[in-house]
Amino acid sequence: MALISWGPALEVGVGLIDEQHQRLIFLLNRLNDAMLAGHSKEVLHDVLEQLVAYTQYHFNTEEQLMTLNRYPKESAHHQEHQRFIDDVRSFQQQCNAGKDQVSIDVMMFLRDWLARHILHTDKKLAEALCAGGEIILPQLENSEPSALQPMLN
Ligand SMILES: [Fe+2]
Repeated sequence: MALISWGPALEVGVGLIDEQHQRLIFLLNRLNDAMLAGHSKEVLHDVLEQLVAYTQYHFNTEEQLMTLNRYPKESAHHQEHQRFIDDVRSFQQQCNAGKDQVSIDVMMFLRDWLARHILHTDKKLAEALCAGGEIILPQLENSEPSALQPMLN
């Protein structure tokens, strides 16, 4: 069962951001499925690494959008992203050291953070981008993690 379902309630109204959020949710559900299926530490590590890599790629896209479109709240939004990456990275290190593992609690933390961030912080960004008229889009070619391509189709 999906940990979180993609749907109109999570759309922010900017196609590029919505498309990437949909992929993030796909990867989050994939990690949840792997955890529930009782996969080995190594498999979970790989799936978590893919989720983190895509999260960084996505945050980078949003940050480019903020810079290009002169979003006034860029710094606070960036800090929110950075804190999340720091939290997830330290969790990953704990996993690698055998001190922690992907659990239901961890999955709920990831789900709640993502849903809250999309519904509040990203929605405000999207509203500002849409209100500004034409949105200047970043150049993204060659930067999408290539390992994700086959499973995104
Ligand atoms: Fe964001």
